[in-house]
Amino acid sequence: MQLFDTHTHLNARGLLKDLEAVLQRAAEAGVVNIVNVGYDLEASRYSVDLAASEPQVYAAVGQHPQDALNYSEAVEQELYTLLQKPKVVALGEIGLDYYRDYAPRELQREIFIRQLGMAREAGLPVLIHSRDAAMETVEILKAEGNRSGIMHCFSGSWEIAKLCLGLGFHISIAGPVTFPNARKLQEVAVKVPLDRLLIETDCPWLAPQKYRGTRNEPAYVAEVALKIADLRGMDPEELAEMTTTNAKKLFGTINNEQLLINNK
Ligand code: NI
Repeated sequence: MQLFDTHTHLNARGLLKDLEAVLQRAAEAGVVNIVNVGYDLEASRYSVDLAASEPQVYAAVGQHPQDALNYSEAVEQELYTLLQKPKVVALGEIGLDYYRDYAPRELQREIFIRQLGMAREAGLPVLIHSRDAAMETVEILKAEGNRSGIMHCFSGSWEIAKLCLGLGFHISIAGPVTFPNARKLQEVAVKVPLDRLLIETDCPWLAPQKYRGTRNEPAYVAEVALKIADLRGMDPEELAEMTTTNAKKLFGTINNEQLLINNK
């Protein structure tokens, strides 16, 4: 199985301590690529450095809404610099978090909109974090004109998913799809068109059911693939191949030769 974990935070919660073992287990589970995602300046710098040292890792840089209070002109300037670095394939994660409300909503909206503009300038897809703010997130994306990106760790209804798909976005499903009570998310996982579906761990958080309560890691993205394949009545190999190809196309990491083979 060839898997692409589209959303990890390998710097968080002690994953660094045994990073080599974590990456080894990921490779053994069939994880061929990982996007490590920034949420503040330090995590964004780390993502860029990790991508430089590990061939299978790509980077995303950006400031999460929960850190909106720390956003400044200086932060923005450094994010611009980081966006130019090799193997930076997306801007994120950015968005709105009205569940935790760590920063005033007005400020969250402002830095979300600024970073959406940076992504359009850089021609990069955006990784969207949206919690208890689905409609407002959709409205901002619609108004700002970003048409390439991922609704990361999607947790909304199929109605919301349809609106995001309508804007050209991909839907990425994480470990909660394996939870027994996840009916709404399982419905989304079945209905999203195969060419817009992605999978992720969001590790170290949200370990799938089999490992629930423990530290999540990229190898466990296989659990997400198996669950969605089961729900859709598909061969897991096929689901893995589709979601991996989708991610490579979106992030622009697929080379022309591979595209030609896939289009035959
Ligand atoms: Ni995240």
